Amino acid sequence: MIDFDKVVDRENTSCVKYDLRQKIFDRPDVIPMWVADMDFPTPDFIRKAVLQRAENPIYGYSFRPESYVDSIQNWLLRRHGWSTESDWFVFSPGIVPAVNFAILSLTNPGDGVIIQPPVYFPFFNAVNDHGRKLLTNQLVLKNNQYQIDFDDFERKAKQARLFIFSSPHNPVGRVWQPDELQKLGEICVRNNVIILSDEIHNDLILPGNRHTVMASVSSEIARITLTCIAPSKTFNIAGLATSSVIISNPDLRKKYASFIDSIHLTGGNIFGSVASIAGYSHGDSWVDALMVYIEENLSILSHALDNSIIKVIKPEATYMAWLDFRASGLSDDEIKHKLIFEAGLGLSHGPTFGEGGEGFQRINLATTSGIVKVAAARLKEIF
Ligand SMILES: Cc1ncc(COP(=O)(O)O)c(C=O)c1O
Repeated sequence: MIDFDKVVDRENTSCVKYDLRQKIFDRPDVIPMWVADMDFPTPDFIRKAVLQRAENPIYGYSFRPESYVDSIQNWLLRRHGWSTESDWFVFSPGIVPAVNFAILSLTNPGDGVIIQPPVYFPFFNAVNDHGRKLLTNQLVLKNNQYQIDFDDFERKAKQARLFIFSSPHNPVGRVWQPDELQKLGEICVRNNVIILSDEIHNDLILPGNRHTVMASVSSEIARITLTCIAPSKTFNIAGLATSSVIISNPDLRKKYASFIDSIHLTGGNIFGSVASIAGYSHGDSWVDALMVYIEENLSILSHALDNSIIKVIKPEATYMAWLDFRASGLSDDEIKHKLIFEAGLGLSHGPTFGEGGEGFQRINLATTSGIVKVAAARLKEIF
């Protein structure tokens, strides 16, 4: 029995979500439902493995043992039906660094890079900060579900070298279907566009949905795709900075990996690799139970907001929900102010996700149901 209702005090642990509230929200006591980590304790099988390694008091230079990649490969096959080879794996401390490394190693200044707003905001910075040309393929909200404008995507692909894809998508929560992946992939193949498929949320699939790995759709698509995955979101271990970029095409892998080697970014963190092995080896039932709990939190929120001015865009994956406040008629600043200073809630501000984020807020539901009930009641009361 996994106790997701247990409240863990995270204050004064240098934790971004709680200890940066004053700085981010100008108020130290908002209920923090913003940055994407969970209020649930890291599962016992990971904690035990890390504690056991910590018992040996020397934390010197180390390498990742064979079981590190083996455990990821087995997980990917078991959970996602994707068969990989061990030499496809390149280490990265995080996925945002990997996105930046891909831009630096696989594109040139001025090259076009496509992203699909409203989308995880570091994608914008990664393109702009390195002097690449930002090409946006705006997602379209139809019947309460976000969809891809493929004609526009093809137009953008003609001017692009790289496509940074969020799959499942943060913040709109879509699990992209095989036919959608195939269409995107084929357009990229036709136009010689490399795909960086950021699949960091791939394990956080809500019951009734199924994630498809972009690189598993066809061999042509695999040849142009870098897949980014991590145990960080899945098992709540983002602080251990351990992720993978999986590249089957040897030429692309060589370019990417040479860049990583040139900046000596191969070592990693002992506890990250221990935690990753434990998570991917023993985490199946924990993640399944987690997503049932998130689904319950989502339904608490949705029921509370039924017939209110706030519309919940139902996610198919991730532990976040994208909330539509547009019917309130309020400006983004007014929404933000009411949330923080009247409702006492710290959400992620829609406009930071780019065009299409206006009038929206993202709420993190990876917390106890008790907290979700309080937050939902406050939202209903204040709006
Ligand atoms: C789509 C997406 N990519 C990457 C990240 C974070 O990556 P990392 O912390 O590994 O750099 C997040 C975190 O919220 C995310 O939502």
